[in-house]
Amino acid sequence: MRILSGIQPSGAMHIGNYFGMVRPMISLQDSSDLFAFIASYHAMTSIKERASLEQNIFETAVNFLSLGLNPEQATFYRQHDVPQVLELYWILSTLTPMAMLERGHSYKDKVAKGIKSSHGLFSYPVLMAADILLYDSDIVPVGKDQIQHIEMCRDIATTFNDRFGDLFTIPKAQVSQDTQTINGTDGAKMSKSYDNTIDIFCSDKQLKKQVMSITTDSKGLEEAKDFDNCNIYKLCELFMSDDELQQLQQRYISGAEGYGHFKLTLLETIQDNFQKFKTKREFYIDNPDKVEQILQAGALKARKIADKKIQSIRLAVGLD
Ligand code: TRP
Repeated sequence: MRILSGIQPSGAMHIGNYFGMVRPMISLQDSSDLFAFIASYHAMTSIKERASLEQNIFETAVNFLSLGLNPEQATFYRQHDVPQVLELYWILSTLTPMAMLERGHSYKDKVAKGIKSSHGLFSYPVLMAADILLYDSDIVPVGKDQIQHIEMCRDIATTFNDRFGDLFTIPKAQVSQDTQTINGTDGAKMSKSYDNTIDIFCSDKQLKKQVMSITTDSKGLEEAKDFDNCNIYKLCELFMSDDELQQLQQRYISGAEGYGHFKLTLLETIQDNFQKFKTKREFYIDNPDKVEQILQAGALKARKIADKKIQSIRLAVGLD
């Protein structure tokens, strides 16, 4: 069973990235043939500065490795180290109806948020389809916002298979129930573009600032509080066991503490949880050559498969 997913190198990793994507992906590496890649070409649709792109790609690699991705088990690579994907992207784009892309929610949302429209941004789903189909992926774990892209990929693959023969595996999206959307400090989906993130590896001072900015209702210290609708509690749920949550619920109900106390509990919990990854992270930051070596080895594995697949695709369409 091949499972593949990509992550955009969009800078500092936050709790939403971690619980929504990174951790579920890493947990699959023991039981499947996992392909995890850094979507560097996709990132170019929003990052236009050389230094930021380079830095974000490096940081994303470091974060994945520090958080437990095992490059011996998974195939971990940068998208642009396997440029064969661009040839497939072109071939698929000749089979992609304009109207399909015009219906893209993600494209429309991004333009509405102020990302400059470009042909690359518009055809983003076709490149994503190429990422998936080049490696005969069976399952693609994604956030809810990417489901439409997987649907497009399935449609494009079916069109290709009907015309040129059954070359492509039709992939399935996998959206995990409890981790699909993580809320940010204001209760909306946690996202860098909403400026409501809690970052995993920032300074203690910055982390405190982010946690303290979580919005709550204005109940006073002595009032009983509603944990179910509280942004602090929702974040605690990601980290705590059932027992710990029950204790926290009691504290909400008792009316002896204010939101500031609950925020401090959350802050400590976050610090404890990510502390164990920090040593490894420092090691990789200090050893960029080691990171490079891992990524090169991953690209080599991926390229072998991609080369073979692209040969058979060329043959099928008449480019032999
Ligand atoms: N578009 C995805 C995102 O923003 C990243 C991505 C690129 C991806 N190519 C992919 C995800 C292929 C899954 C499969 O999250």
